[in-house]
Amino acid sequence: MSKNIFTTKSIDKLIIESESGEHGLKRTLSASNLTMLGIGAIIGAGIFVLTGTAAANAAGPAIVLSFIVAGLGCLFAGLCYAEFASMIPIAGSAYTYGYATLGEFIAWIIGWDLILEYLFGAATVAVGWSGNFVSLLKSVGIVVPVAIASAPLAYDGSTFTATGAVINLPAIILILVMTGLLVIGIQESAKFNNIIVFVKIAIVLLVIGFGFKYVNTANWEPFIPAREILADGGARYGWQGIIQGAAVVFFSYIGFDAVSTAAQEAKNPQRDMPVGMLASLGICTILYILMSLVLTGLTSYKNLNVPDPVLVALSAAGPALKWLFFFTGIGAVAGLASVVLVMLMGQPRIFYAMSRDGLLPAVFGKVHPKFNTPYVTTIVTGIIAALVAGIFPIGLLGELVSIGTLLAFVIVCAGIILLRRTSPHLNRPFKTPFVPLVPVLGILICGYMMLNLGFDTWLRLIIWMAIGIIVYFTYGRHHSKLQKQKEQAPKAVMS
Ligand code: ALA
Repeated sequence: MSKNIFTTKSIDKLIIESESGEHGLKRTLSASNLTMLGIGAIIGAGIFVLTGTAAANAAGPAIVLSFIVAGLGCLFAGLCYAEFASMIPIAGSAYTYGYATLGEFIAWIIGWDLILEYLFGAATVAVGWSGNFVSLLKSVGIVVPVAIASAPLAYDGSTFTATGAVINLPAIILILVMTGLLVIGIQESAKFNNIIVFVKIAIVLLVIGFGFKYVNTANWEPFIPAREILADGGARYGWQGIIQGAAVVFFSYIGFDAVSTAAQEAKNPQRDMPVGMLASLGICTILYILMSLVLTGLTSYKNLNVPDPVLVALSAAGPALKWLFFFTGIGAVAGLASVVLVMLMGQPRIFYAMSRDGLLPAVFGKVHPKFNTPYVTTIVTGIIAALVAGIFPIGLLGELVSIGTLLAFVIVCAGIILLRRTSPHLNRPFKTPFVPLVPVLGILICGYMMLNLGFDTWLRLIIWMAIGIIVYFTYGRHHSKLQKQKEQAPKAVMS
């Protein structure tokens, strides 16, 4: 048994199977569409919210170093993703790469893990979007009652309590609208994404450009505050604080890998997948470094432990930057909306690939005859994400999204080392440089960031994976096409 579940599927077979069927996904996305999708998924709650919390509670002004550390981890993982995406240019991202290198069981584990990144990621960011959207409406005099704009459940680390609110309606509406757009077409979704990405980049640049003029360099001192031991036994700042901060701000980089889920819809995936992922990652890393320098330069990092750190930092410049407040609100709302869009694009394409392999019901593999989109999985993903976002608080979900993504990154890096050994002669249009150094560094940095996430988060990850293993052994293994072909092969030989 153990032998079967680790059987891999050849890359040729994966590609041939992905092209079979009456209706397939359509190749329409260009390199610039893919780069914009990457930026769409990356810039969001992380930079608009977590930078402040991480600076105040973990790294101080050295949060900029946290961004560099997390960015390096993503760069190394991104280089590994790029090799896989150019070599296996079909839907499914790390799940499919896992199938080709580590076998069906590990592929399932990665696919199940990616639900944390994409489906829960979309729900988490939709909750953040709702908060920002309600504040923006309030700033123009429209008040949305809290009862219909926040989670009915609160979580204190061990128990759930009722908040008195009924439902987070704005989060649900956003997810349903984005789901509708994604059903209508990948091109339409990409065009809409292009517009919002343009808006959010423009606003981030405005904050950086105008903010820099008012930076008080005294706020950057001490750049790495001395390590402090807290009353609850925890600690912050110092060199270790930089890594703690990196584990938190890692969330802001999540999403560049979502580009790879659209490999089957890219016009020239061999060339454009690496471009889309690495260019979006590079652009966002530069913006994050500049943005974190501005925020910690405008005010003391101690003031930034708030839900709206960008506004708090801009306020420190006095009335001069007040005009940026409204734009910042628009930037956050636009930014978070495109993250939700791209996450909701990634998840169905992974379910679609899992269904193609028989690990999920065949209906999940249906492609819309007119729109050429995996509409069944898109709608199922949208409904589940909307329910999660409507009910659960953001804190419960955020770290889980990060740990799930980091785990996928570690496995992808390991997969590159393995595939170079087992199949050295495969056609690799993009080659990860300095193998095994780059993947090993990716594993070390991402693994170390995982270790810096809390015990609770690890526990939730373990429980989630245990559920996934049960689902595999009760459903996937019995329906897997690969297992069925293997069972039939000896019979065919005998008859
Ligand atoms: N990187 C995305 C964000 O920060 C998930 O919202």
